[in-house]
Amino acid sequence: MKYFIITGTSRGLGQAIANKLVNPGHHLFCISRKRNDDLISRSMHGNIDYYEFDLNEANQIEELMQAIFSEIDPSRAEAIYLINNAAVISPLSSIEQAESRELARNLNVNLLAPMILTSLFIRFTQPLQIEKRILNVSSMSVKNHLSGMSAYSAAKAGLDVFSKCVGLEQGEGASAVKVVSVWPGIIDTSLQEEARNADKSTFASAGIFAKVHERGMLVSPEATAKKLVEFLLGESFVQGAVIEEL
Ligand SMILES: NC(=O)c1ccc[n+]([C@@H]2O[C@H](COP(=O)([O-])OP(=O)(O)OC[C@H]3O[C@@H](n4cnc5c(N)ncnc54)[C@H](OP(=O)(O)O)[C@@H]3O)[C@@H](O)[C@H]2O)c1
Repeated sequence: MKYFIITGTSRGLGQAIANKLVNPGHHLFCISRKRNDDLISRSMHGNIDYYEFDLNEANQIEELMQAIFSEIDPSRAEAIYLINNAAVISPLSSIEQAESRELARNLNVNLLAPMILTSLFIRFTQPLQIEKRILNVSSMSVKNHLSGMSAYSAAKAGLDVFSKCVGLEQGEGASAVKVVSVWPGIIDTSLQEEARNADKSTFASAGIFAKVHERGMLVSPEATAKKLVEFLLGESFVQGAVIEEL
């Protein structure tokens, strides 16, 4: 059995990744605040466990991971994967207009939660001599800086550096967990919608997102998920890498 822990599966890219991974040889642990009944209805013999969980609640992540790992049968596990996909784009404003609560949520969901999940994943899988991989969904916002998106860009840059550092710590030993950050491209999801519909008076870059949409440059979540899943399960998953283009 291959086990997958996936965050942000209620919609967008996370939902498409989960849909792609549902098959009888896989067991999925899906995490988001809103439960995805459509996804759950595709479960085969109970191979999807859904956790309605707010990743902003950093202090409760350990309990969540304990619950997930109590469902994993080490004797049947041939591989285990963590996909840190959940993210929030807001606050979409210059930094002096951003509310501290929104800034904290951005950093909690986009950076702190993946760090804690990674830490617990490595700890809990330590005794398992099987394939263990973590895919962190990052963004080209690390390099393409836009006015009004400093928190998102900073969190994703942090995620990339974190992936490199943990990759270095884990190294290439038999029980190493491989960690990779990926920039998935621009995808037609509600995150894009939120950016292009944001108030132009506070988010100067809204027009750029509107143009990208108008010009048909957004890729479907399904097409992106296909590439990401192939990458996750494939041979080019190189320890500590940051993949800028799939
Ligand atoms: N769309 C793009 O063009 C694009 C480009 C580059 C990178 N990315 C990255 O791709 C990933 C997926 O983004 P997307 O475009 O699919 O976004 P999306 O449609 O907005 O979906 C975001 C997902 O994250 C979950 N999430 C948000 N806050 C959460 C919280 N507090 N606790 C638990 N789950 C939470 C949401 O579920 P709930 O709201 O139900 O909690 C939802 O399932 C993100 O890492 C994003 O940064 C996207």
